[in-house]
Amino acid sequence: MTQAGKAKRVTTHVLQEMKAAGENIAMLTAYDYSLARLVDHAGIDVILVGDSASNVMAGHETTLPITLDQMIYHASSVVRGVERALVVVDLPFGTYQGNSKEALGSAIRIMKESGAHAVKLEGGKEVIESIGRILTAGIPVMGHLGLTPQSIYKFGTYVVRAKEEAEAERLRSDALLLEEAGCFAIVLEKIPAELAAAVAASVRIPVIGIGAGGSVDGQVLVLHDMLGINTEFHPRFLRRYADLHEAITGAVGRYIEDVRSGDFPNKDEQY
Ligand code: KIV
Repeated sequence: MTQAGKAKRVTTHVLQEMKAAGENIAMLTAYDYSLARLVDHAGIDVILVGDSASNVMAGHETTLPITLDQMIYHASSVVRGVERALVVVDLPFGTYQGNSKEALGSAIRIMKESGAHAVKLEGGKEVIESIGRILTAGIPVMGHLGLTPQSIYKFGTYVVRAKEEAEAERLRSDALLLEEAGCFAIVLEKIPAELAAAVAASVRIPVIGIGAGGSVDGQVLVLHDMLGINTEFHPRFLRRYADLHEAITGAVGRYIEDVRSGDFPNKDEQY
């Protein structure tokens, strides 16, 4: 805590110090004020306003439909709930792939309109010019390699990436390019643990894994998955820390019963 009684903010610099000290970084997604506040109070280091909001908040099958305006809405809600964590926001599909000027414009809108601290975007060599331009404006960038859900129609499937040597080699060289360009961290999604460990050892910036094994510098999960709100999604890498599906449907069921039976409200619950 600082003298003012507020928790000291996590910065990109703090994350790099954590890697250097061998301390694992804990990152989770959040998309709204109330859950972001809880996750921040619990002591998370990084909150990702992921474009997975497209799936878990809006019910879309993929991350592609979510818009920049919608991401800014989610991000500004999260920022209002957070005192300590670093807030990173995904640049949504179609807002940075066209050209670097468009990418910079999208990143500036996120930073200005939401108050977030950094952006994340998917890809390596093919988006390096955009990353460079965003960085020149002083906006920290987190990279994302391996399974990149915005390219799902190119991959055709959500299976583990980079099992073949050619793709693994491309990923290794993309990671070095992202570091050289100035990214402050990289997410590696759903790749073999051995490859992820080698990438993490080859760069000085933190590597945060999801389905990438334990020998990286930190872990990220989608909050709704680890809290057991979404029960249909159970990949091997997902550890469930709660069963909120059961807790919420149980609570709502008891409320319905009480309303129907006339038990709620009772005399103490009225004016
Ligand atoms: O959008 C998201 O939630 C993500 C994580 C899976 C890393 O990008």
